[in-house]
Amino acid sequence: MASRAHQSKIIPVVDQALYEANIDKKALTAIAYTKGPGLMGSLLVGSSFAKSLSMALKIPLLPIHHMHGHLLVHFIEDETHIPPKFPFLGVTLSGGHTQLLLVNNHFKMKIIGSTLDDAIGEAFDKCGKRMGLSYPAGPQIDKLAQTGNSNSFVFPISKLKGYDISYSGVKTAFINFINKEEQKNLNFVKNHINDLCASLQYTLVQIILNKIENTAKDFNLNQIVIGGGVSANSEIRKQLLNRKKSKRWKVFLPLKEYTTDNAAMIGIAGYYKLKHRQYGSITENSQARLKI
Ligand code: KG4
Ligand code: ZN
Repeated sequence: MASRAHQSKIIPVVDQALYEANIDKKALTAIAYTKGPGLMGSLLVGSSFAKSLSMALKIPLLPIHHMHGHLLVHFIEDETHIPPKFPFLGVTLSGGHTQLLLVNNHFKMKIIGSTLDDAIGEAFDKCGKRMGLSYPAGPQIDKLAQTGNSNSFVFPISKLKGYDISYSGVKTAFINFINKEEQKNLNFVKNHINDLCASLQYTLVQIILNKIENTAKDFNLNQIVIGGGVSANSEIRKQLLNRKKSKRWKVFLPLKEYTTDNAAMIGIAGYYKLKHRQYGSITENSQARLKI
């Protein structure tokens, strides 16, 4: 479904973007595209389109890592936004990734810790599915949690040592808890949806917050830069801002429109690739799995 949607939408979307920006395609200096990671069908549509355009217009091709894009949105200029300074602690929070990164420059990012099982967004989505929410459940859980009490239910916070992260334990505990409660009351989820969402969201956020705190301290990093779909989450944004003073952190939260997957993030990453003349080639393959 995703690759079919990419096929039918890629040309109209590019056309509309050029039209709204009031730019003729002949004025383009380069084309950036996502090399990976992601769904192969979708990556192939994007890369084939980018390669064709690069050949037709005789402009450089700039292959981008999806997660570089998520963090580099902080370098999109506007009047109010000051970008972070290198090095900083980058935290990617998406449907496929949960990583803590030592970011030394725009493209030199060293993994400090990573999820060993589910990504944070995946935990939101899978727990949401068990509550009958549609995909992606993350934004709906965030909304439903606004009027819930996060102390209503207690779910386990993984005690994994070091900087790696785990979300499968809390996901399983959450699903088992609902299975058990539904045996007593079939309407359990419906009757407690707001409290369930608030308690779950609190736990999922607490797990990554603990890791961020430890990593920032041990690596002596005071700039916390988050990116990815889950960086839109109101609880993580609130909790990070709450710690600004006590931890002496500078917290960088992306604008909401740059949190969930978007093309601007690939554009800004492409800008820096172009600046450093790091061009790609027409023979380069898309990669469903691609190390940062
Ligand atoms: O970065 P993204 O758009 O796609 C991937 O690269 O995976 O992230 C999508 C993930 C989904 O799991 C979605 O549920 C989650 O981001 N998400 C949220 C919120 N908005 C999006 N999770 C929690 N709270 C949100 N407000
Ligand atoms: Zn993403």
